[in-house]
Amino acid sequence: MMNQCGKSRWSRRDLLKGSLAAAAAAALPGWAKAQAASDVSGSNSLREHAQARGLLYGAAVVPQLLDLDGAAAGRSGDVYTQLVAGQCNILVAENAMKWAPLRPTAASFNFAPADKLMRFASAAGQQVRGHNLCWHEQLPGWFKTTATKENARQLLVEHIQTVAGRYRGQIQSWDVVNEAVLPKDGRPDGLRNSPWLELIGPEYIEIAFQTAAAADPNAKLTYNDYDIELDTPDQTEKRTQVLMLVRRLKARNIPIHAVGIQSHLKADGPQAGVGLQTFIRELRKMNLEVYVTEMDVNTKNIVGGPDAQDAAVAKAYRDYLGLVLPEPNVKMVLTWGIMNNRTWLNQIKKDWTQRPDGAPQRPLPFDDHGRPTPAFEALSAAIDHARPLTRKRPQQSSALDPANLYKPFRVQGSPAGAPPESSYVPTPQVQ
Ligand code: XIL
Repeated sequence: MMNQCGKSRWSRRDLLKGSLAAAAAAALPGWAKAQAASDVSGSNSLREHAQARGLLYGAAVVPQLLDLDGAAAGRSGDVYTQLVAGQCNILVAENAMKWAPLRPTAASFNFAPADKLMRFASAAGQQVRGHNLCWHEQLPGWFKTTATKENARQLLVEHIQTVAGRYRGQIQSWDVVNEAVLPKDGRPDGLRNSPWLELIGPEYIEIAFQTAAAADPNAKLTYNDYDIELDTPDQTEKRTQVLMLVRRLKARNIPIHAVGIQSHLKADGPQAGVGLQTFIRELRKMNLEVYVTEMDVNTKNIVGGPDAQDAAVAKAYRDYLGLVLPEPNVKMVLTWGIMNNRTWLNQIKKDWTQRPDGAPQRPLPFDDHGRPTPAFEALSAAIDHARPLTRKRPQQSSALDPANLYKPFRVQGSPAGAPPESSYVPTPQVQ
């Protein structure tokens, strides 16, 4: 077993480091110990499980936190970077491609974080979703005083031309319009009374899709929304209105290729069921793909400690993905974040996010230290059960050697972060 320098990759020092990592793992409590021993790299990663089933797994990321240089070199000591690179075959910016972060002033753009995300994804052989081009939230402060009925259409068109045009040919799908439906606003067409609707009228949606199609003809143009998962009366009504919106767009030959179901679930209360399944099948009849775009599980109402939360979250992943992933037009699942310490559910302090016991939420497949949670296992198993193995794995699009790329992701279970490179124990290979 020799590396390029002719030295053994299995040095005594490496093996010693490996056993120190095992000793550290032995000190961990409960399930964390079992998980620490588990290897989530390479063929055990969500990335490869998904790829083997013709699916994509991805996560919402904060580009500023990514170690781009490390990823480009095929190794990084940063756990967050390791997980994002090692587990995902598609990324989406949690905020960086939204209006407010992109447009500090009406006349200027800040593309630095979004550009960094594109470079990271390219180094790690990943696709990218764009999120989003038109939304009623996270509009810049200047928007309220600057946008008028006279200039709003031009503002929207120029924004989409600039942003979607910049990444033309590099985006798998764009969330062109986000959260445009809200039946409780009382309009017959089910549309939300958003600033865009008020300034431009309902045709803002068609304008956005047509402009995006011209700016990036290869991206799958997506309508994305939340609270359309359950069979409750409110969500059934909203889902129906989304379907009607999509039908109207299709009838008018507006380019739309996919619907994103955000899938911000709650661990308690009703589960998704036949309504969602029927919705996905109706979309399939219209030749539309479906993406699970922002999955996480809110445990505000789950009584108990971390284990109770983790079990409830894992069950929600299992049940939900067991329902939707077998539908053949469902092509990907993204979680809204990847590690529990970076979930928006702990960042935004709202009545619906804060647990009565003050404990943090645990909605994602990896814990605060980057160890796989029970949700990881549920997600991985749901992907495996979703559909048969594809005969041949699609090729990596990265110029990097995938074996090299996965190298830093092999050792898990070091609570303080990634083990040093020297503690990596390679899988024996015939040279
Ligand atoms: C959230 C981000 O996670 C937060 O960091 C930000 O403060 C608010 O937006 N639906 C969406 C996402 O489409 O863009 C939202 O992301 C979560 C709900």
